[in-house]
Amino acid sequence: MKWILFFGALIGPSICGREKFFGDQVFRINVRNGDEISKLNQLVNSDNFKLNVWKSPSAFGGPVDVLVPSVSLQPVRSFLMSQGLEHSVTIENLQALLDNEVEEMQHNEGQERSSSNFNYGAYHSLEAIYQEMDSIATDFPGLASRVKIGHSFENRPMYVLKFSTGGGEQRPAVWLNAGIHSREWISQATGIWTARKIVSEYQRDPAITSILEKMDIFLLPVANPDGYVYTQTQNRFWRKTRSVSPGSPCIGVDPNRNWNASFAGEGASDNPCSEVYHGPHANSEVEVKSVVDFIQNHGNFKCFIDLHSYSQLLMYPYGYTIKKAPDGDELDEVARRAARALASLSGTEYQVGPTCTTVYPASGSSIDWAYDNGIKYAFTFELRDTGHYGFLLPANQIIPTAEETWLGLKTIIEHVRDNLY
Ligand SMILES: *[C@@H]1O[C@H](CO)[C@@H](O)[C@H](O)[C@H]1NC(C)=O
Ligand SMILES: [Zn+2]
Repeated sequence: MKWILFFGALIGPSICGREKFFGDQVFRINVRNGDEISKLNQLVNSDNFKLNVWKSPSAFGGPVDVLVPSVSLQPVRSFLMSQGLEHSVTIENLQALLDNEVEEMQHNEGQERSSSNFNYGAYHSLEAIYQEMDSIATDFPGLASRVKIGHSFENRPMYVLKFSTGGGEQRPAVWLNAGIHSREWISQATGIWTARKIVSEYQRDPAITSILEKMDIFLLPVANPDGYVYTQTQNRFWRKTRSVSPGSPCIGVDPNRNWNASFAGEGASDNPCSEVYHGPHANSEVEVKSVVDFIQNHGNFKCFIDLHSYSQLLMYPYGYTIKKAPDGDELDEVARRAARALASLSGTEYQVGPTCTTVYPASGSSIDWAYDNGIKYAFTFELRDTGHYGFLLPANQIIPTAEETWLGLKTIIEHVRDNLY
């Protein structure tokens, strides 16, 4: 209880003390070939420009999104011009979007205080999400329970919601993971919405009812609690954990490069200052280790789904190699059906494929670890949008995003239910 009081006291005033981005913009740079990718990497890796990459170059060109600080606008434009790289400005007034987001959150907090209802169409503090998890468990005691699986580097609890209709501890299970990258707020918001959806649709929707007759679902809505708090108190665009690297001024490890799957291979960095720093060793991040231990102790997970943003992609292993996964055909077929189901709601289009060849090589990722450890149905969603708002997806898109994602999730989990192994 103590940490909740501490955190509650902290959030209100400090959101105003967060880092400001006056005059900063987000550029979309078009890259068409390997030559342009290497020019772009030169730009991105240069310490002079202080860029923050929102969307990395894919292996096959396509757009790259970078946050450009106001002082770097002119030098970056000159560099791009000199290299013949085309760009457009996707977010012209970043601070205005941030101010709007904070204002909406504070307005909503006031309304929630007077109505004591959790508004699923708003972004929330960690404390509010944890309280709502508790409410769900209290409202549906025979179906949902809140389980503490560990704690974060800064000692915040890590909670999962377990959905189970009984049948013993060893029922086949699904792991739904959200918020491993803290700035991808639509992920945590979709996670908690999905929790409420599961309890309210059980015994109404035959699909979820039959799933829960055979399987348990575990949902971790905030896989990186320290990072999430940091995005609300210090820097909205924080991605990593908040662990300290001895001997480096830089903080944090990319928790989606820290799993024991081709650890420290391609698509990860050994530089603690990098946004894709893999950490000193596999599972060095207590947040990752807690999930790994929980899943291994359980021993009967059949499905692992990780929710990220943004780009509208549905991917499956591998990230660490261009080799095709042994179950690649089946995973591809399921993912395509899930993407069709998702699009059926309002036409949101997703690209489907293995991580490595759809975006870029990424070693040490959660779904590769799951797959290599016998969890065949392993998928990553990159939720809305394709870059118009990027990580700053407006709150009025939370419910539409969560609703359509649910159709995709259900398609996958129904397939797992029908193909238990
Ligand atoms: C990583 O996995 C390998 C087997 O693939 C195992 O030998 C090793 O101990 C694991 N490392 C950690 C940190 O769990
Ligand atoms: Zn992510």
